[in-house]
Amino acid sequence: MRIDQNPPTSTVAVVGLGKIGLPLAAIFANNGYHVVGADINHDVVASVNQGKTHINNEPGLDELIATAHKNNTLSATTATAEAVAEADTIVVIVPVLTDDQNQTDYHMIDHAVADIAKGIKEDSLVIFETTLPPGDSENRFGKKIEDISGLRPGQDFFLAYSPERVYSNRIIHDLKHYPKVIGGINEKSLKHASTFYQKTLGCELIEVSSLQTAEFSKVAECVYRDVNIALANELAMFAEKKGVNMAEVLSASNSQPYSNIHSPGIGVGGHCIPIYPYFFINKGLSEGLTPLSRKINDSMAGYAITRIEQQIGSLSDKTILILGLSYRGNVKEPTKSTALMLIDQLKEKGAHPFVNDPLFSDRDIRQYDATPLSLNDRRCSEMDVVILQAFHEAYRDLDFSQFTNCQLVLDGRNQLNKNAISRLGIKYAEIGNKGGGRLDSN
Ligand SMILES: NC(=O)c1ccc[n+]([C@@H]2O[C@H](COP(=O)([O-])OP(=O)(O)OC[C@H]3O[C@@H](n4cnc5c(N)ncnc54)[C@H](O)[C@@H]3O)[C@@H](O)[C@H]2O)c1
Repeated sequence: MRIDQNPPTSTVAVVGLGKIGLPLAAIFANNGYHVVGADINHDVVASVNQGKTHINNEPGLDELIATAHKNNTLSATTATAEAVAEADTIVVIVPVLTDDQNQTDYHMIDHAVADIAKGIKEDSLVIFETTLPPGDSENRFGKKIEDISGLRPGQDFFLAYSPERVYSNRIIHDLKHYPKVIGGINEKSLKHASTFYQKTLGCELIEVSSLQTAEFSKVAECVYRDVNIALANELAMFAEKKGVNMAEVLSASNSQPYSNIHSPGIGVGGHCIPIYPYFFINKGLSEGLTPLSRKINDSMAGYAITRIEQQIGSLSDKTILILGLSYRGNVKEPTKSTALMLIDQLKEKGAHPFVNDPLFSDRDIRQYDATPLSLNDRRCSEMDVVILQAFHEAYRDLDFSQFTNCQLVLDGRNQLNKNAISRLGIKYAEIGNKGGGRLDSN
């Protein structure tokens, strides 16, 4: 047992080279470490080994990968155990999601941790960065590593948790500027992890008293966002009932420094906000604002469809174009996207959903049971309804005159030019405004 020696930290294994793992690997590889990235996806591994990134729209990432490749400080492999065996520090960033019943789905990370346990050597530092249900770093994964390797967390290897809090499209910036929350299974693990991030990220560090506190803090951030969006959605629906324009309310209410009402919308999607509240709900927070907010936010797709029915009647046999498969604008991420709920619910109504998304191929879109439609396609003229689901840059100046048969545009993100659409004789509907209020923001 050599735990009180300084751990050598010259080689890092980053397990999971996805949207977050690859930027992390690139930063570590440009800040004094030799990095081996491990991923089960052969294409990802091949592209990293060619000095290329498979992640789009991430400012600064291409350059970091190219430099690390040139300097021979970044390579990738599908052999996780081998990468881990070479490393002194192992950073785990493989997702934990939820299944169709909102139960926590560990299958990806469980495999990754089993591989890590096969390669880990004594005195290594293992840092989990994946958002986790509180308690899991130690009770699930520390234990699993011990069961397989025989090495005890906190005694034979160091164990820390530090959540990733970054936002897609500005990950490199956020990694350098957001404070890094760090918890350790013991003081030595905490200090080793802090030293590692000090050297690699150079950002402010917030050391907390336990692994579980660090895990809890990340889930709490997501619950905070979900609850606040649910509040905005609830108020928006009530504003509609009262004939009040929610956009006007937002700018009036939020002029008070303590009021920060979020923007309402057609739904909440992505890797984080619709998923992580269940990490609390499934561990006992089964009543109160957290589950209620999930319910409200998940009801918004159905609410939007009801709004459409109120305006144009039955949706049976109607052709409906959803703009944006992604859960939000300018990001290629379909996980838990509201577009998927819209597709299902429109089909249940007998409608024919079409999807446009410039970030996805037609093949990708077909996988989600919708018909892809390019904005140059002559069938645009056949659409009865257009729904803005994700506000991609490509939609900012979208010319709706090609939708010659369109009766209604439902602006699920309250971003489109209402006046331009109305001038074409197309009805315009948004979340939080049924035509009340004086102001016309466009
Ligand atoms: N995407 C975001 O905006 C975001 C923001 C903050 C935090 N996070 C955290 O980062 C985690 C990862 O997110 P992401 O966006 O990078 O996910 P991602 O889906 O883009 O990437 C995950 C990667 O893990 C790989 N993988 C799966 N199973 C593996 C295994 N057994 N061994 C090795 N690699 C494996 C996949 O092939 C994939 O390349 C999330 O679960 C979340 O906790 C994500």
